[in-house]
Amino acid sequence: MAVRIVVGAQFGDEGKGKIVDFFGSQADIVARFNGGNNAGHTVVVGKNTYKFHLMPSGAVQGKKCLIGAGVAIDPRVLVEEIESLKKTGIHAKLVIDKRAHIIMPYHIELDEAKEKAKGKAKIGTTKRGIGPCYSDRVSRIGITFADLIDSKRLKKRLLDVFPLKKKELEQVYGFKSTLSQEKIFNEYSALGKKLKKHAGDVSLEVDNAINEKKEVLLEGAQGTFLDTDFGTYPFVTSSHPIAGAALIGIGLGLKKINECIGVVKAYSTRVGSGPMPTELKGRLGEIIREKGAEFGTTTGRPRRVGWIDLTMLRTAQRLNNFTDLAITKLDVLSGLKELKACNSIKIGGKTLKEWPADLQELHKAKPQYKKFKPFVLPEKIEKFDDLPEEAIDYLQFVSGEMGVPIKIVSFGPKRSSTLLLY
Ligand code: GDP
Ligand code: IMO
Ligand code: MG
Repeated sequence: MAVRIVVGAQFGDEGKGKIVDFFGSQADIVARFNGGNNAGHTVVVGKNTYKFHLMPSGAVQGKKCLIGAGVAIDPRVLVEEIESLKKTGIHAKLVIDKRAHIIMPYHIELDEAKEKAKGKAKIGTTKRGIGPCYSDRVSRIGITFADLIDSKRLKKRLLDVFPLKKKELEQVYGFKSTLSQEKIFNEYSALGKKLKKHAGDVSLEVDNAINEKKEVLLEGAQGTFLDTDFGTYPFVTSSHPIAGAALIGIGLGLKKINECIGVVKAYSTRVGSGPMPTELKGRLGEIIREKGAEFGTTTGRPRRVGWIDLTMLRTAQRLNNFTDLAITKLDVLSGLKELKACNSIKIGGKTLKEWPADLQELHKAKPQYKKFKPFVLPEKIEKFDDLPEEAIDYLQFVSGEMGVPIKIVSFGPKRSSTLLLY
């Protein structure tokens, strides 16, 4: 094994953090390739719960952690994460790509202002400045990590960009900004100084590691249907969480990827606005939300909950080409009185097995369900055959319809609640 990618197959929060930590034991390096601190990846080890926003989830395993060029970094959050990890005895071996872009305070204000201006049509962003930061990147007015750690360059960049951003905030959005260029410079040049020792070239680090036959784990944030192009646009994030983006976000050529793990939650959840055909709005949705503790890791917002959706997952398979699945949170379905999976959707007169290219049509989609026999998981699960037959039927249906074998079944947040099938 050389390169393994871990990607969320749904709307994020599938349990990627747990799966990355699980494979982290075998990896030499773990690298994040997209998103920013909109991500919240949970790793539970014994009595400790770690919530990672920017640090790769391999940190707990003491692995070399890399933040690739495709990541949007809020340096305030990253410094805090490094400090709080130190307090738990973890001294991260961290390398940050100099090309990664920096989330600035005006990005956070713009995120807030833009959402407010959208009114009812708001995206429900995490308000972490993600969209405005990536917008500036493609508009070529972003501030990179290389700029942040060089105070002369930072001053120059701010001189060019800040007045534009202030104008946008105040004159386009009528936002009362309290930001000043000088204060930002003072705070951010100090943050740059703190982080400077981590500066490097992640593209080169990963390439070298692959050439040296080391084990590389590439960690995706968000999920397939939050992808800017292939998600439920405009209700998406502003980066690419799909597998192909791992190469771009790190700066890797078309090298052989040995494994691409699709992390699939045993049901669906979504935070923020946008279509979700299988959403359960009644009591059953509340029961699953409580049982699965479905409240955002980053924002604490209640997650919307629904049945698993094979139309979405077949599409995810096409977009990512998973070699293996990690199915998480099976325990949350244990003991429910009913169990269903959406097998197709009807839009107008048409029955579809995958999601349409015009994802706006999903607002009209009527899910067609296949019923399964409910199951109760036993206390002790050590091997696949310990699972009840009904649970196996359900898992095999998901795997069969996606055409991807199940490598991992997760039935609790802890490392010990994990079955590795091969
Ligand atoms: P990520 O963003 O994909 O890393 O997922 P999050 O960490 O945001 O959300 C997943 C949540 O489910 C976290 O609180 C995990 O500790 C928890 N979790 C992961 N796997 C399982 C599982 O198999 N069962 C249960 N009950 N919880 C799990
Ligand atoms: P992890 O990595 C779930 C959602 C937000 C919102 C949309 C756009 O923990 O799976 P943004 O702040 O990115 O501009 O918000 O994307 N979103 C996530 N939902 N898990 C995440 O990350 C998410 N990151 C962003 O709720 O709907
Ligand atoms: Mg999360």
